[in-house]
Amino acid sequence: MNFVGEHILSVSQFERKDIELVFEVADRMEPYANRQRITRVLQGAILSNMFFEASTRTRVSFGCAFNLLGGDVRETTGISSSAIAKGESLRDFARVLSGYSDVIAMRHSEAGSVAEFAGASRSPVINGGDGANEHPSQALLDLYTIKKELAYRNKAIDDLRIAVVGDLKYGRAVHSLLKLLAVFKSVSINLVSPPGLQVPEEISDLLKTYDHSVSFFDKLEEGISAVDILYVTRTQEERFSSQEEADRYRGLFRVNEAIYTQHCEPNTVIMHPLPRDSRTAAQELSEDLDNNPNLAIFRQTDNGILIRMALFALVLDVVDLVDKHSSPVTWNTRRRSRKL
Ligand code: NCD
Repeated sequence: MNFVGEHILSVSQFERKDIELVFEVADRMEPYANRQRITRVLQGAILSNMFFEASTRTRVSFGCAFNLLGGDVRETTGISSSAIAKGESLRDFARVLSGYSDVIAMRHSEAGSVAEFAGASRSPVINGGDGANEHPSQALLDLYTIKKELAYRNKAIDDLRIAVVGDLKYGRAVHSLLKLLAVFKSVSINLVSPPGLQVPEEISDLLKTYDHSVSFFDKLEEGISAVDILYVTRTQEERFSSQEEADRYRGLFRVNEAIYTQHCEPNTVIMHPLPRDSRTAAQELSEDLDNNPNLAIFRQTDNGILIRMALFALVLDVVDLVDKHSSPVTWNTRRRSRKL
């Protein structure tokens, strides 16, 4: 993959070397994300952040990543505040918006909608999540987190043992992550979901063609022992056709300190794309794990900035100019210590 000027719509676009390149560039973004230096490399560039479905961290971190590279961000959120509500097609919308922006990040509730939009866009488009289909930047930041967490444990992504828990049918973050894992070597994957919310066959078949070990579980306790990574997901209630259907699955799998201590290996890393559903009826990833050093959920969100900066730098072809346009920060960078 060339990256420069390309749309990023699906993780299927990436070969292993492309993923490794994104990670290398992400590492180089650390001084900027950590506010040790600032760079103005994208001064004058405009990101259109188009989020037509609920989002906090993806939207804000795309925006912050662009700002940290010196660019400006224009944001539209919600269908009702855009001309799509007046019946404008995604294609017309793309023609217009791409005339205003150097790059576009977009989230939409329909699978395939971001690709349709990109088909008419004159600027590169990054998929921020299209329905239950894909969420490439989330998968990259998840895999980058996995790589870093495993490095502390002297392990690598090849030979990884991972359990993915929850709504594997509608969870686009897991769909992209599983497809991304496919290109690594001998990954052992436990797919832990209630009957009715299993991963789409197309994805489990893909993993099998790459010769990974794929096992299916419908009991939480059985699927989470003997793994390096425990990746928990939210039931995607917004994708169900009725409230009754959503109620059927809520709170079925709950990972908490007791379950973790009893069933997981002591060093198992706990991940979640967030938001976690912490309402009493759900409690899918209990807050009683918040002081557990293996809980990596906020390291994941921090890594999201690095990955999104890397994607912008690659797509806009400024990777080697970032440092040249940099200077020390001028404000007091002493940040409050993190006790997470
Ligand atoms: C995920 C998403 O929107 O798919 N959230 C995110 O972007 N971090 C996961 C979710 O909403 O459950």
